[in-house]
Amino acid sequence: MGLIGFVIVFVSAFVYEATAADNYTVLDGRGWTITSQDDYRNWAANKDFEVGDVLIFNFPTQQHDVAEVTKEAFDSCSVNNTISLHLNGPARIRLNTTGNHYFICTFNGHCSAGQKLAISVKPDEDAVSPSGSAVPPQTPRSSPSPRSTPRSAQPPTSNPGETPDNYTVLDSQGWRIPSSPIAYRNWAADKDFEVGDMLIFNFPTQQHDVAEVTKAAYDSCSGTNPISIQRNAPASIRLNSTGDHYFICTFNGHCAAGQKLAISVKSNVDAVSPTGVTPAGPSGPTPRNSAQSIAVSSLSIAALMSIALAFLH
Ligand SMILES: *[C@@H]1O[C@H](CO)[C@@H](O)[C@H](O)[C@H]1NC(C)=O
Ligand SMILES: *[C@@H]1O[C@H](CO)[C@@H](O)[C@H](O)[C@H]1NC(C)=O
Ligand SMILES: *[C@@H]1O[C@H](CO)[C@@H](O)[C@H](O)[C@H]1NC(C)=O
Ligand SMILES: *[C@@H]1O[C@H](CO)[C@@H](O)[C@H](O)[C@H]1NC(C)=O
Ligand SMILES: *[C@@H]1O[C@H](CO)[C@@H](O)[C@H](O)[C@H]1NC(C)=O
Repeated sequence: MGLIGFVIVFVSAFVYEATAADNYTVLDGRGWTITSQDDYRNWAANKDFEVGDVLIFNFPTQQHDVAEVTKEAFDSCSVNNTISLHLNGPARIRLNTTGNHYFICTFNGHCSAGQKLAISVKPDEDAVSPSGSAVPPQTPRSSPSPRSTPRSAQPPTSNPGETPDNYTVLDSQGWRIPSSPIAYRNWAADKDFEVGDMLIFNFPTQQHDVAEVTKAAYDSCSGTNPISIQRNAPASIRLNSTGDHYFICTFNGHCAAGQKLAISVKSNVDAVSPTGVTPAGPSGPTPRNSAQSIAVSSLSIAALMSIALAFLH
């Protein structure tokens, strides 16, 4: 592919990313209604929610409502402390933050009958951290998802083929029933997992185990039919694929007590070819728009232009 080709690819990426954020109509044509929670799980399972996307809850006003609630309230169907409450259908709720979001209907009995939706919202794939956008154009990292800010203390990651990272789950505490129900979420929150990285689960063998499971099994703490299970510690699990990965302890009650870890794995942004061309924006899981991604695309174009000029001289 010649230089013109590169430029066309990048301009296309720019145009593609400039599409609007997605609107998701909850349960599609059925709308926000009383039905099995599995229906909501299945609906959400194949979707990649990102910051900026909008959930649309269709329902007849005064027959349902939508409350965003905490995980605890979601699990117990408690309506006491809602984060927000929408009384009129259709309700449009913009997903402004990453992480898990929980929605229930507060009408008596509706949530416990299954009218509840839990989703996981990822960062806008093309958004970059401030440190990322500060990377000068001479390192044309074409994937606009550099490692997160906490790594800025480390040497620059412009070195292709960097050694994958090992992450010890919950650090020195190890894989255990956590003191806080959000301990694993907090531990994972500032980490940028990439394909090739390794999770290390430290635990006393026969007191815990580690199963990789589906999102549905993670949510319901079901240890039947795990994707994989490791019973001996320390368990090292290589992250071989992008996307969300879910881990639970299958010992009775452990997962329900919070021994569960959900992480999102990105492609290895360091595995760039010397020309920096291989993982161009559009090959990422879900290119999206944002002011930042537009800035990044422009940056990429600028970087390519400077490479081109270097070649021409
Ligand atoms: C989402 O809905 C808004 C408001 O109706 C609309 O302007 C926008 O184009 C929709 N976006 C997509 C991607 O459909
Ligand atoms: C919600 O509030 C009601 C009334 O104050 C109380 O009886 C109930 O125990 C509370 N439920 C939860 C789950 O906190
Ligand atoms: C998300 O942000 C928009 C725009 O700032 C705001 O209007 C909306 O209320 C926010 N939504 C939620 C659920 O916080
Ligand atoms: C990760 O662990 C493996 C196996 O123990 C080791 O070979 C490798 O050097 C470690 N990588 C880092 C970055 O610590
Ligand atoms: C990841 O790939 C390695 C090497 O191909 C393999 O040994 C390992 O079982 C894989 N891990 C998972 C979790 O699939």
